[in-house]
Amino acid sequence: MAEQVKSGSQRSRKRVFSGIQPSGDMHLGNYLGAVKGWVQRQHERENFFCIVDLHAITVPQKPDELREQTRSLAAMLFAAGLDPKLCTLFVQGHVAAHSEGAWLLNCVTPLGWLERMTQYKDKSAKQESVSTGLLDYPVLMAADILLYDADEVPVGEDQKQHVELARDIAQRFNHLYGETFVVPEPVIPDTGARVMGLDNPTVKMSKTFAHIRGHVVRMLDEPKEMERSIMRAVTDSGKEIRFSNDPERAGVNNLLGIYKAVTGKSKQECENDFADARGYGDLKKRVAEVVVAELTPIRERYDELMADPAELDRLLAIGAEQAAAVSAPKLNEIKHKMGLTVPTGSGL
Ligand code: AMP
Ligand code: TRP
Repeated sequence: MAEQVKSGSQRSRKRVFSGIQPSGDMHLGNYLGAVKGWVQRQHERENFFCIVDLHAITVPQKPDELREQTRSLAAMLFAAGLDPKLCTLFVQGHVAAHSEGAWLLNCVTPLGWLERMTQYKDKSAKQESVSTGLLDYPVLMAADILLYDADEVPVGEDQKQHVELARDIAQRFNHLYGETFVVPEPVIPDTGARVMGLDNPTVKMSKTFAHIRGHVVRMLDEPKEMERSIMRAVTDSGKEIRFSNDPERAGVNNLLGIYKAVTGKSKQECENDFADARGYGDLKKRVAEVVVAELTPIRERYDELMADPAELDRLLAIGAEQAAAVSAPKLNEIKHKMGLTVPTGSGL
């Protein structure tokens, strides 16, 4: 008999599944808004972090670049502090259950559900030739989530519709074949920090504007370069160093927000730290110092891992093994429910 589906309330820790695209260089916004929080909360939940290379190939990619970006992102996440003893970080393409699971779920997903996905409509409008994979993207994402019986799926607003589709697929499968999947909840994290562009504090720091000089601080920038970008950050003509919602003072607010997110201090403590500052120059200098101090060890660990491919492979193999230990039995359960034969000895 298959084990009863355990919801979060029956497990000791809630299970969380997140997927991360292997694209572009990670920047301070990604780190302070997302990754730092994942590292800090590794103990609280049972986390699966998946680098979604199979999703990346739904649009054209340069093979060598994709490989490099996948390894680079993995090295960066380990370097930032994700610990294989506390969480599972793996590459989607290393765990065959994801592709297989997507096929099985394809066979219970009405085509019309996929055709109305807004991301598909947007992306396909921009492509000359649209792959079947692009249409099927949300089914692969549903497989990612459902294979792990994830309770919670942290995503940005733009991915919420896909998590809702995963819920619909889970419910349809449960209805057709009996209780099989936990129905996952999308969680839109209230980001600890929303880091704004240093050149323009009214827009979110983003990969899209990374080519504009002084917009981002990249995780891999040299300390000198980080200092330069922060010292050049756009501010206003005043000199009061306080948090504020005034759009005129968005630059100073952003610098204080970065300081707060890096140091973990309260707003009051941050403002107190600058009570005797002589102006925005002092603020910028201090922000640059804490950012460089936070990112330097990460960068060093990243460099070590990128210089030691065998060690990175070893860490990724641990992740893939941990992921397969959960997803392989689940895949057999799905197959069995659908009437496929599964190996004797799988307990089904
Ligand atoms: P993206 O690079 O846009 O795919 O985002 C990856 C993760 O980083 C998501 O969890 C985003 O919410 C977070 N993120 C991206 N840019 C920022 C930013 N400027 N401030 C805070 N969080 C961000
Ligand atoms: N599609 C998500 C994005 O672009 C990434 C992703 C793939 C994902 N599989 C997932 C997110 C499963 C959460 C759960 O950001």
